[in-house]
Amino acid sequence: MTTMESLIGLVNRIQQACTVLGDYGGDSSLPTLWESLPSVVVVGGQSSGKSSVLESIVGRDFLPRGSGIVTRRPLVLQLHKTEGGAEYAEFLHIPKKRFTDFSLVRKEIQDETDRVTGRSKQISPIPIQLSIYSPNVVNLTLIDLPGLTKIAIEGQPDSIVADIENMVRSYVEKQNSVILAISPANQDIATSDAMKLAREVDPTGERTFGVLTKLDLMDKGTNALDVLEGRSYKLQHPWVGVVNRSQADINRSVDMVAARRREREYFSSSADYGHLTSRMGSEYLAKILSKHLEAFIKARIPSILSLINKTIDELEMELNQLGKPVAVDSGAQLYSILELCRAFDQVFKSHLDGGRPGGER
Ligand code: GDP
Ligand code: NA
Ligand code: MG
Repeated sequence: MTTMESLIGLVNRIQQACTVLGDYGGDSSLPTLWESLPSVVVVGGQSSGKSSVLESIVGRDFLPRGSGIVTRRPLVLQLHKTEGGAEYAEFLHIPKKRFTDFSLVRKEIQDETDRVTGRSKQISPIPIQLSIYSPNVVNLTLIDLPGLTKIAIEGQPDSIVADIENMVRSYVEKQNSVILAISPANQDIATSDAMKLAREVDPTGERTFGVLTKLDLMDKGTNALDVLEGRSYKLQHPWVGVVNRSQADINRSVDMVAARRREREYFSSSADYGHLTSRMGSEYLAKILSKHLEAFIKARIPSILSLINKTIDELEMELNQLGKPVAVDSGAQLYSILELCRAFDQVFKSHLDGGRPGGER
């Protein structure tokens, strides 16, 4: 637990613990603690390529896809880098069940969405929480949200357009969200739903990462250099262009490894983007996001620590009131989060006192 990578792992665990506690957070500092932790929120119009970008960051096919509104509940996706061994996934709502077949992960996301929204085309703000353990991922928490849309379709209430926008806004307006704003290159960036919302909540572009998808689908003779080189829309972080699998690729079952290789070849052999090769593509995107998240957490260690300590005090008080031995469920949960908080306190402090956080890579 001495590298900065493990700091993200720690934050993942606090986030999980806070979610498990859910309702018990009411009176304590837990919600504030949760809010102070960073995560990456993926926003964009419908079919802009959000799910494709997420899948390439993970390097696995596991998300429901199709045309129209497929993502109808927030998906909180925690990536945990392991030292080796098999890749597997776990849902918070099915504890202890390890999924090794990722097509079953996709099915479970679909089923769990339907369980709450009743197979309608309705949306629900209740998140689904999924963890993926793999030696091939970077430590990262990503939140996939329903796509922004301009009109309701058959079977949806008219309010859905505003409902989705409000749900997305409630995530991106948090100062601790890193915004992964997805725009397709074959549409004018001036009409991008993602950039419109990002500009509204993050006018200086400090916490927005602009991602341009579908570079391969641009009209021949045109290119996206004005966007990628920051002239069309200036952000503090560099823009990243990606080439995901097309629908035809997906229908032909082109796998993720082949897709990533093709993406690399696309950039390295491109007359327009060749000079940007080392700063383009999904793998590069995953790397800079993870790095940014580490720096973000590092800068906030002192405030996270004081919140953790406040939470510890409150939990101790609450437990004292419940009396010992704690038999009831809520007591047991409070106790386990208290233990977690104490452990976090120690580790965060060591990052602080060691005086060399981030220096151990
Ligand atoms: P979402 O609705 O924003 O999650 O978008 P999806 O990731 O489901 O993508 C919508 C459609 O666009 C799918 O058919 C994808 O295969 C396709 N697509 C996404 N990104 C690209 C890309 O970079 N190039 C090409 N050719 N197709 C893409
Ligand atoms: Na879609
Ligand atoms: Mg999607």
